[in-house]
Amino acid sequence: MWGKRDDMVVHGSEPYNAEAPPGALADHILTPLDTFYSRNHGPVPDLDPTSWRLRVDGLVERPLTLSLEELRSEFSEVTLVATLQCAGNRRAGLVEVRDIPGEDPWGPGATSTARWSGVGLAEVLARAGLFPGAAHIAFAAPDVSELADPPQPYGASIPVAKAVGGDVLLAWAMNDRPLPRAHGAPLRVVVPGWIGARSVKWLQRVTAREEPSDNYFQATAYRLLPPEADPAKAGPGDGISLGPVVLNTAILSPGDGARTWPGLTRITGYAYAGDGRTVARVDVSLDGGDTWMQADLGEQVGPWAWRHWHTTVELGEGETVIVARAWDSAGATQPESPRHVWNPKGYANTSWSRARVTCAP
Ligand code: MTE
Repeated sequence: MWGKRDDMVVHGSEPYNAEAPPGALADHILTPLDTFYSRNHGPVPDLDPTSWRLRVDGLVERPLTLSLEELRSEFSEVTLVATLQCAGNRRAGLVEVRDIPGEDPWGPGATSTARWSGVGLAEVLARAGLFPGAAHIAFAAPDVSELADPPQPYGASIPVAKAVGGDVLLAWAMNDRPLPRAHGAPLRVVVPGWIGARSVKWLQRVTAREEPSDNYFQATAYRLLPPEADPAKAGPGDGISLGPVVLNTAILSPGDGARTWPGLTRITGYAYAGDGRTVARVDVSLDGGDTWMQADLGEQVGPWAWRHWHTTVELGEGETVIVARAWDSAGATQPESPRHVWNPKGYANTSWSRARVTCAP
């Protein structure tokens, strides 16, 4: 389905939501298109690229209507590698603590990395000319989500400082291939370092505003509610609006529940620090965090990309829980337990990654 590999973990087919099995993410710094997770809140639109137009309006001096051809020929093409991470990444670990009804139990595969090409949002906004009162840039798409209250097309916004200064792209290519339909063709936003929800697919409209977007997916969803809150009663503005990604890591292999042979076992994973920070260190423990060893970090392919890591350990016979945690360039690390970060919508599970492995001859 949607050109994805056969072994995708499919959380739903309508809307389509799927992630690759963790081991598949370990093999490549750039996630192949058939392995890249897909997160949708409504049906995938089928937009005709020749009649498609991007409108730029709101608090701008010169509202614009741009075709794909005009975007390609009149602006500079920008290419960068960026990781996308859904705020629901690793929700499964929170569901184990307490059920989270109505939300898919994503594993660590709601994180993937691609090389994106397009134009810089900053250049498009410069052509439109922002009025001084413009504080937020809102993005609108045509896919109507029945999951929103009330049902409405998908939308989001980012503060103007991020929009003009943070390498935000309007992208038409992914890993040097035309942007696939499921990933937002003909044009999507890529907001590096911010939760995937802000990287709006099938982009049709960019609006400069005084306030953040009042779209359901900005004002009500993708907000971190306190543990005691009832998400059914949450309304616009409740909780903490999620923006910059929080430091996270995941063990990709061996998988949770795997069996290994006695001898040396290679452990691999990814770590991702989000906006403005980089992954500085990853530690692995075989005794629940009493003692740690440092993993080897893979290449940092750009400021917005995850880092793969690996180490090799000797596991004793029987069961071992392998634990991993990352540190970022600000010296922050991850909380130990999903119990401490549980929240009613199951976002931002940044607790230590754990893989239970049985070693037997
Ligand atoms: N844009 C639109 N129009 N509709 C959506 O449902 N999902 C968002 C974002 N952009 C979404 C969207 C979320 S929550 C994520 S995590 C990313 O797209 C996922 O991008 P991908 O499907 O290309 O991996």
